[in-house]
Amino acid sequence: MPSSSTRNPFTAEESPAVGVSLHGVSKQFGDHVVLKNITLQIEPGEIFVLMGPSGSGKSVLLKHIVGLEAPSAGQVCVGNQDAADPETREDVRMALVFQAGALFNSLSVYDNLALYLREHRLGTEGQVREKVMHALQILSLENAAGKLPSELSGGMRKRVAIARALVMEPQLLLYDEPTSELDPVMAATISEIIASLKDEYHVTSIVVSHDRDLALNIADRVGILMGGELITIATPDELKSSTDPRVQDFLNPRIDLQQPRFKKLET
Ligand SMILES: Nc1ncnc2c1ncn2[C@@H]1O[C@H](COP(=O)(O)OP(=O)(O)OP(=O)(O)O)[C@@H](O)[C@H]1O
Ligand SMILES: [Mg+2]
Repeated sequence: MPSSSTRNPFTAEESPAVGVSLHGVSKQFGDHVVLKNITLQIEPGEIFVLMGPSGSGKSVLLKHIVGLEAPSAGQVCVGNQDAADPETREDVRMALVFQAGALFNSLSVYDNLALYLREHRLGTEGQVREKVMHALQILSLENAAGKLPSELSGGMRKRVAIARALVMEPQLLLYDEPTSELDPVMAATISEIIASLKDEYHVTSIVVSHDRDLALNIADRVGILMGGELITIATPDELKSSTDPRVQDFLNPRIDLQQPRFKKLET
């Protein structure tokens, strides 16, 4: 957790968080329509959690925001710039925490974090060290600095991936399944870290997750994507009291051995 006794070497306070907006965004791969006419406004500094069944298009939507995919129709804006425009990535600092971490296996944890700063010549080695160690400290990873990713547990790798995003001093931080494959306590810890980063850095956070506890405890708003459409955008309290059967079934699925769902799965 952030320590008030350590000077914060990051400058994110000077760069305000940015909002994200989608205007009638559709995406199809060949004949396969993944996103259908999505309109959504995410406010600067908000924690927006995007939920939805596997294959509903959550990761595809994230990729549009960071400019890795372009819409078939409509527009995605980061701040007031088009997300598909390469200049947007130069003007807005955004970091995507990939589901599998996407760490460089041959580099130590320290070098994984330092890489971005060195490549972009963001400071002397001393300044790089200060930023890297501060990020590791926030994620309680100081003792892992010299280790290789293969020497870490899954939960530690997730935290390294978040620490690496943090050294970029992002204005916009996106997470793809940050708590998947973690035990419930580590999942809760990661949720607390995401919430604390919002408070300390006033970063805009977009979290793709299946984790109901994460969504209901740290989100400002939750969107549920189903069949390519955002079927709801609601606060956690509104979600809990939603009468939409699709929302209730998604959040509180019942195991029904008389009418098992697997018999209805598409092949
Ligand atoms: N580059 C691509 N080319 C073709 N189809 C793609 C491509 N990327 C994604 N898809 C398809 O888009 C759909 C949505 O994929 P996506 O990865 O966004 O799902 P998701 O909601 O993130 O699922 P999960 O919860 O399992 O991660 C899937 O059917 C997938 O096969
Ligand atoms: Mg995904």
